[in-house]
Amino acid sequence: MAEQVLSESAWEKFSSFVQRKIFRSYRARLNYQYKRGGWDWLAALDEMAHHAILGGYFRFNKKGGTLLDLGCGEGVLQDNIGHENYSYYIGVDLSDDAIRIANERRGNEKTFFYQGNMDKYVPPRKFDVIAINEALYFSEDPLKLLSRLEAYLETDGFFMISMVDKRGDHIWDVLNKHYAFLDENYVTNIKKITWVCRMLKRAA
Ligand SMILES: C[S@@+](CC[C@H](N)C(=O)[O-])C[C@H]1O[C@@H](n2cnc3c(N)ncnc32)[C@H](O)[C@@H]1O
Repeated sequence: MAEQVLSESAWEKFSSFVQRKIFRSYRARLNYQYKRGGWDWLAALDEMAHHAILGGYFRFNKKGGTLLDLGCGEGVLQDNIGHENYSYYIGVDLSDDAIRIANERRGNEKTFFYQGNMDKYVPPRKFDVIAINEALYFSEDPLKLLSRLEAYLETDGFFMISMVDKRGDHIWDVLNKHYAFLDENYVTNIKKITWVCRMLKRAA
């Protein structure tokens, strides 16, 4: 039995190596990083403030509502929103290992995490809020993504997005032409990293 586990593990390692190095698979690279704790910093103190702003947007406007969290990683945003403050939560991430960790740590009867590509993911229902927290840079076409997702927002629903300042500027420039910003906050941590957090009204 031990030998079987060992050989499975060796096979997994080999397969991961081939996917990452030969086929240049981004998904396999993310899995490798999550397995090795390479994204543990997402739950660190100096990341807390931008999660807290998005958590505040949700609680202030839609307490008890539903949330779709795209590019959710290990689901850290859920900690900030608080289990008692939502009725239904879906998180989606490209990394299988992020999703495994999220489900182990945060999954429950109303909180579900699924592997998926945000650019292709088809939500199973409408949500009060769609969050893209530190992940919109990874979309192939952020405006196209948000436009498609409008069909899955409740009538008075909104998007909430955070991105690191400057890194997200070119995306904000595009979104600014199509969406009204309902609120915005800039938050800077002790390392002098600044995040821009915004609430976006539905365009249609
Ligand atoms: C900086 S992390 C942010 C994670 C989480 N939102 C947080 O703030 O803790 C970016 C995440 O986007 C995910 N990601 C990258 N490309 C993606 C895609 N096309 N679809 C879904 N998730 C993606 C990565 O796996 C990673 O977990």
